[in-house]
Amino acid sequence: MANAQRKILVTSALPYANGPIHLGHLVEYIQTDIWVRFQKHRGHHCTYVCADDAHGTPIMLRAQNEGITPEELVERIGREHRADFDAFHIRFDNYHTTHSEENRQCAETIYTRLEKTGHIARRTIVQAYDPKKQMFLPDRFIKGTCPRCGADDQYGDNCEKCGATYSPTDLKNPVSALSGVTPIEKPSEHYFFKLGDFEGMLQFWLKGGHIQPEIARKLDEWFESGLQDWDISRDAPYFGFGIPGAPGKFFYVWLDAPIGYMGSFLNLCGKRSEYKFEEYWDGRSKVELYHFIGKDIAYFHTLFWPAMLHGAGYRLPNGVFCHGFLTVNGAKMSKSRGTFIMAETYRKHLNPEQLRYYFAAKLGSGIDDIDLNLDDFQARVNSDLVGKVVNIASRCARFINKNFANQLSRTCTELDLYQSFVDAGAEIAELYEKREYAHAMRAIMALADRANQYIDENKPWVLIKDEGMESAVQDICTVGLNLFRVLIAYLKPVLPITTAKVESFFNFGELTWHNIQRPLVDHEISAFEPLMTRIDPKAVEAMLEESKATVAVAQPPVTATNPHLENFPIGETIEFDDFAKVDLRIARIVKAEHVQGADKLLQLTLDLGGETRNVFAGIKSAYSPEELEGKLTVMVANLAPRKMRFGMSEGMVLAAGPGGKDGKQIFILNPDEGAEPGMKVK
Ligand code: MSP
Ligand code: ZN
Repeated sequence: MANAQRKILVTSALPYANGPIHLGHLVEYIQTDIWVRFQKHRGHHCTYVCADDAHGTPIMLRAQNEGITPEELVERIGREHRADFDAFHIRFDNYHTTHSEENRQCAETIYTRLEKTGHIARRTIVQAYDPKKQMFLPDRFIKGTCPRCGADDQYGDNCEKCGATYSPTDLKNPVSALSGVTPIEKPSEHYFFKLGDFEGMLQFWLKGGHIQPEIARKLDEWFESGLQDWDISRDAPYFGFGIPGAPGKFFYVWLDAPIGYMGSFLNLCGKRSEYKFEEYWDGRSKVELYHFIGKDIAYFHTLFWPAMLHGAGYRLPNGVFCHGFLTVNGAKMSKSRGTFIMAETYRKHLNPEQLRYYFAAKLGSGIDDIDLNLDDFQARVNSDLVGKVVNIASRCARFINKNFANQLSRTCTELDLYQSFVDAGAEIAELYEKREYAHAMRAIMALADRANQYIDENKPWVLIKDEGMESAVQDICTVGLNLFRVLIAYLKPVLPITTAKVESFFNFGELTWHNIQRPLVDHEISAFEPLMTRIDPKAVEAMLEESKATVAVAQPPVTATNPHLENFPIGETIEFDDFAKVDLRIARIVKAEHVQGADKLLQLTLDLGGETRNVFAGIKSAYSPEELEGKLTVMVANLAPRKMRFGMSEGMVLAAGPGGKDGKQIFILNPDEGAEPGMKVK
């Protein structure tokens, strides 16, 4: 081995435990996994830890909506995340959760040390509070009218129409997105981390080349506007860790999330005795530490996190590596276009290694967004992996298998050519190290072209027909297979499964960056098995279709004695197109009133997210206006307006039930909180 063995600890950002892994996430986990595999492949001691990010309000509310505990939710989503990571060959050395005793211990230690050294401040702030839900509202759970442009239904922190940013207290007509009631302002004592105490240390650290220049420029802007105290506490009810010595106060999720890197590592220490926590995290640690993250969370990782580590006497990261965001076919991932693709949907239809290769072929060390263009994806994978790389082996292997009893020649007849492939490894290694994967893939494909050219020039399939040329054919194919073997060694961090197949084909143990220095000769190989097939365009189509379909609602079993089915048999079958004509939307009932002189009707004002509708609904016998206000429901938004005795009805809300004589059996459809007015129902 040329260089001394390095000890390295690597992390990827911790995915939130309230939703599935999608292809955007995978950019990061694939980028990191390739880097980690590369380091291991080079003989370094590299450890990759991650965890689920389990805390926070959205996870608490989602669990409530599902009628389960947050622990149950986190446990289920954690299992799904692990299955997805496995399928994409993301090989963590440890995967844990931030809702763990190890993480609690690390968070308490860091907090206590910061407190003791005077870096925690306390002061009372006034915040929006939902008197019905009895909880403080995070900004994104407050909606109202933009104070600048007057657009309705804007979130509490910024306006999607005009781009204004403000505090939720500036919103006009604010309502709680959870209950629809008007929030009140309520004081509460909060805990703050005094980031400003660390300005000098951060400035110094940031000059050390630990972050990309693009991010460093962003940070300069933040420094210029001054480092603000960071609010690290949240009031109950909150799913998180209680703050020691502060009853009813919890650590804000972003405090214990990066500490989750440590928590996961501490968990690993408990499983494997060769790992010592202090060796990796002590202020004087010699172990290299790198964090891979998306550019959206740079602030947390390049300011708060290093300051917290330093303030608590721990070591600093050697590098924080940001990547850009994934777009699909040139646009933000979109549910309606079917380009919001879950990891699980992809893997049902397509080969995960092919996505690994495509991302590698697009990734550089910068923070530019990367595009998954599905046509380009097919063309690229088919041409590079199937057409170039695998093709070398399939062209040569069949002769060695069939004509030479699996035996490679005694010598390599093209030592110069072989050596040029080995020599190229130095540059390729450097490109991997610098995360210039796209460049590395181009260099590898240029070698693949060279290998194919060698075979084309020597035409073993022609020579095999000439008597007396057998040994020449064996020599050519031996060279071809050896060049292929070098290429696979270079692709090993990207294509672990294909590599494993190739390793068993060559019967020579594990491929490493080092054991390809000499060609494999006078050696018996195994029968060649197909390594990878071309991407089927139908599979891509099917993946997009499936991504479009929304989760079907589970139906309770029905029996023939069900009176609803007996009285109202299921109607005649319609085509999808018929259904698609009905434009169903989520609406919020912002007002419900009695209608003078009407005994069945209520007059509803429905907010479609920027547009309001007046609708008369025959639900008076089942609901009082007060209990409807603030509720979400589903409406037919493209029904032609109808003039009724009491006014114009502009749509229809969906309700179920026979009505009945007393009219009580009516149930308006009521989507889970979190659905947003205007959303299309499919
Ligand atoms: N839980 C936080 C991270 C805490 S780290 C101490 C979080 N979770 S996340 O699930 O939203 O995102 C996890 C990672 O995936 C982040 O680094 C994020 O930047 C990345 N990505 C999420 N969507 C992405 C794309 N569409 N494209 C590329 N990366 C994306 O943030
Ligand atoms: Zn606005």
